[in-house]
Amino acid sequence: MATTSLNVHSVLVTGSNRGLGLNLVKRFLYLPTPPQWVFATSLKTDGAKLKDLNELKSQHQNLVVLQLDVTNPESINKAAEQVREHVRESGLTLLVNNAALRRKGDLETVTAEQMAAKYAVNTIGPHQVSQAFLPLLKTAAQRSPLQGLSCSKAAVVNISSAGGSIEVMLLWEKSQRVGYRCSKAALNMLTKCQSLVYKDYGILCVCIHPGWVKTGTSEADLTEEESTQGIVHVLATLSEKDNGTFVDWEGCKVPW
Ligand SMILES: NC(=O)c1ccc[n+]([C@@H]2O[C@H](COP(=O)([O-])OP(=O)(O)OC[C@H]3O[C@@H](n4cnc5c(N)ncnc54)[C@H](OP(=O)(O)O)[C@@H]3O)[C@@H](O)[C@H]2O)c1
Repeated sequence: MATTSLNVHSVLVTGSNRGLGLNLVKRFLYLPTPPQWVFATSLKTDGAKLKDLNELKSQHQNLVVLQLDVTNPESINKAAEQVREHVRESGLTLLVNNAALRRKGDLETVTAEQMAAKYAVNTIGPHQVSQAFLPLLKTAAQRSPLQGLSCSKAAVVNISSAGGSIEVMLLWEKSQRVGYRCSKAALNMLTKCQSLVYKDYGILCVCIHPGWVKTGTSEADLTEEESTQGIVHVLATLSEKDNGTFVDWEGCKVPW
């Protein structure tokens, strides 16, 4: 798939030590025109967790690895400051809120604590991270010569799930994941709210369903590579008309 029209000065991906986040970081590094800065962030910074990112870092000087816990404002603000020191007056072009808690939980047994933990990471996390990086996103939008809204200008991309779609209820028969579904439905609403406010700053906001990917289970439909190649291709095609929408890794609209 062609990804040549995505021309991003800088990108940050949360939860990118493994899974789709790590694979998205690779996709950005291997773009025909790679970003000047790719910020990969990890909740933990111990050697085993960072093995893959450190290997990538040894091959890519534009990759910066940062600690970022999306539930911890101190950690988020520290990461935002470190990003600012790198990008300076260029700002941050693309923020990908990817980090999530995906653990199971059935309606009859899921506890308030388990639901609250998912909401903290999957919904409040993207909100807090977006708030902290907003000044840098605004700067990128202001400095861009591009008209309208696009991911090459400035954008917040929230990685959601069709599991959070009230109409689709993806894989309900396989796994209820009630807390996860509720947190992603709320993330979709957050995206819509962000899109209505951030558009005035020149920042595009979307939520993306990455497909059912073999990060946790081998019976899923897609490899990480297929999903992230699709996502990056879709990012390149998004424009003003897509602001505040919910699309999948192939660019098809997902019902709310
Ligand atoms: N895989 C799928 O089929 C699928 C389907 C639909 C949607 N999605 C969405 O796609 C995204 C990526 O999924 P995935 O399968 O790659 O998930 P994953 O393999 O479970 O990875 C989740 C990532 O989030 C990080 N994380 C968890 N809590 C965090 C926190 N408080 N602060 C910062 N990072 C934190 C994890 O760090 P640790 O390694 O330290 O735990 C890990 O890097 C998620 O938003 C998920 O909901 C995935």
